[in-house]
Amino acid sequence: MKQKKTAKPTGSAADFIPPRPTLTKLRAAVQGCRGCDLYKCATQAVFGEGPRTARVMFIGETPGDAEDRAGKPFVGPSGKLLDRALEAAGIAREDAYVTNAVKHFKWAKDARSKRRIHKTPSASEVRACAPWLAAEIALLEPRVIVCLGATAAKALLGRTFSVMKKRGMVVASEHAEAVFATVHPSAVLRAPRDQRAIAERLFTADIRKVGRYLDKPSKAGKRAREAGPTLAAWPTTENRSATSNARTRSSRR
Ligand code: URA
Ligand code: SF4
Repeated sequence: MKQKKTAKPTGSAADFIPPRPTLTKLRAAVQGCRGCDLYKCATQAVFGEGPRTARVMFIGETPGDAEDRAGKPFVGPSGKLLDRALEAAGIAREDAYVTNAVKHFKWAKDARSKRRIHKTPSASEVRACAPWLAAEIALLEPRVIVCLGATAAKALLGRTFSVMKKRGMVVASEHAEAVFATVHPSAVLRAPRDQRAIAERLFTADIRKVGRYLDKPSKAGKRAREAGPTLAAWPTTENRSATSNARTRSSRR
């Protein structure tokens, strides 16, 4: 049944997150979200896409015109550019989950062309939508998160985070082993003609850094490998002794 588009928004997507969520349940539930006003003007919500086992999650801003029609993230011009960078960086599509900070397309009609022009979501819209993104991160537990543009970066890393100062660098956060931020692919597409090629090269270079990071053994995996023999040798009540305790402690430094 088509949803009525008059309901007053509740102010947070948290009101629409199903209990014991799975990606499938979330994907179905997001279509009923009325956390903010954006559901009223969009064709549909666009949820993240990619395997549950993806090691890297890319977060954009809001779906664009093409994504709003298709119901899938990053299928328009920005998505094509992202695909090129992923390929150059050797990141397999099956290793990537792609989503947005805000799940409904925000737009205004261009007076002359009548095209739907993308608008940047407000801080309160990003806040209202954050529970969907938090649920995606909690379910996937990606090793690496890549924020594409300031909206995603600020949503994850705080309002004062500067993409320009920290692009391509590993940022420490509680969300994943490593968080990277770079510009949004649409910023590359909007660059002046004479700067477009260099903008794409810089973007691709940032994504290559993500690829190289993924090629390194995971820190969590490294910790587990280091802990493995230590855990196996962990003194039990039967073999506990001061010396083995001391050895275990010093080898864990
Ligand atoms: N831009 C975004 O931020 N997300 C999309 O899905 C498409 C374009
Ligand atoms: Fe809900 Fe997000 Fe859509 Fe707002 S943009 S209605 S919070 S899904």
